[in-house]
Amino acid sequence: MKLCAVSFTVFLNYMGVFTHAYEKDYYTEFSYPLDVDLQPLVKQHIDGKVPTTEPINLFNYSYLKSCENKCSKNSNPVIVFVVKSALPHFNRRQAIRQTWGNQNRFSDVPMRRVFLLGTGFDPDIQRLIDQESALHGDIVQADFHDDYRNNTLKTMSGFKWAVEKCSSGRFFVFADDDMYISTKNLLRFIRNPLKYPESQPTPTVKGYVFHTPPQRHKPSKWYVPLSEYPYHLWPPYVTAGAYVVSREALLNLHYGSYYTKLFQFDDIFVALVALKVKIDPVHCEEFYFWKKSYSKFSYRNVIASHGYGDPDELRSVWNEQKSVGHA
Ligand SMILES: *[C@@H]1O[C@H](CO)[C@@H](O)[C@H](O)[C@H]1NC(C)=O
Ligand SMILES: *[C@@H]1O[C@H](CO)[C@@H](O)[C@H](O)[C@H]1NC(C)=O
Repeated sequence: MKLCAVSFTVFLNYMGVFTHAYEKDYYTEFSYPLDVDLQPLVKQHIDGKVPTTEPINLFNYSYLKSCENKCSKNSNPVIVFVVKSALPHFNRRQAIRQTWGNQNRFSDVPMRRVFLLGTGFDPDIQRLIDQESALHGDIVQADFHDDYRNNTLKTMSGFKWAVEKCSSGRFFVFADDDMYISTKNLLRFIRNPLKYPESQPTPTVKGYVFHTPPQRHKPSKWYVPLSEYPYHLWPPYVTAGAYVVSREALLNLHYGSYYTKLFQFDDIFVALVALKVKIDPVHCEEFYFWKKSYSKFSYRNVIASHGYGDPDELRSVWNEQKSVGHA
């Protein structure tokens, strides 16, 4: 009997039951380093002044490829796709170039596209990436190890690139390389984000917003110990699959990240920065973080859907949607 009680306790602990009891209240006790008012600091950076507090988290890996001329002075792209990809995903990148990432999709709407990569240890793959980069001019590669556990570094590499090399962009779409995106619906959305899909201006970060508890179940890939994040809820976060950021929000997120302790999950990290610079994420149901089941007509208003890691499927769905006027 005693043994049973003990193992039951161990089991509960393993399932995170006791951990939840030790969590702090998100609404009343929240603070996350660095505990300073970020807005004045962000403004100092934007104005090119020396900040009064020293940054704690700079993305200071060097760029091997940085698409210097992607957004040359007069290009003023309306949309810049910044796509997190992984080194061997050549076929996914090619499908994106031919579908939603096509820079020439609309003759009157300038768009740009880059893929974010880290580095690996296989010289053959790197050679192929060098060729791909020479051919398409859309690879931004920074010198950190390309691994999903380094996704926050990848996101930071994208913020920095966008601020320093593409500051003429109006909206930045941060997306994964396994997404379906309707370029046409994205533009409709940007024109009127608060009322989409019906036809207001544009504060913030938009995507599918969550406000959920952290995972305390030890075997989970998303397990987080109290020492790393002690609160009972995450800050409101946009699923990292795809989200849209205005130029102003981008500047706030980029400079705000300098003063936010690195966190392993990039969607939570972005949410922490957003909270600290007082940007409210906007919820829109037409960003699907799961794979919305497909039919020719069910994708009429879809802006983004997860689950398109198969390049042929992406091409066929996107082409069909384009032909019926929804992509
Ligand atoms: C890079 O950033 C980290 C953390 O922000 C800092 O500790 C380190 O000193 C920086 N390195 C350089 C070369 O600036
Ligand atoms: C993340 O990148 C850094 C820099 O390349 C590396 O030292 C570290 O091992 C990487 N982390 C993971 C989990 O791959």
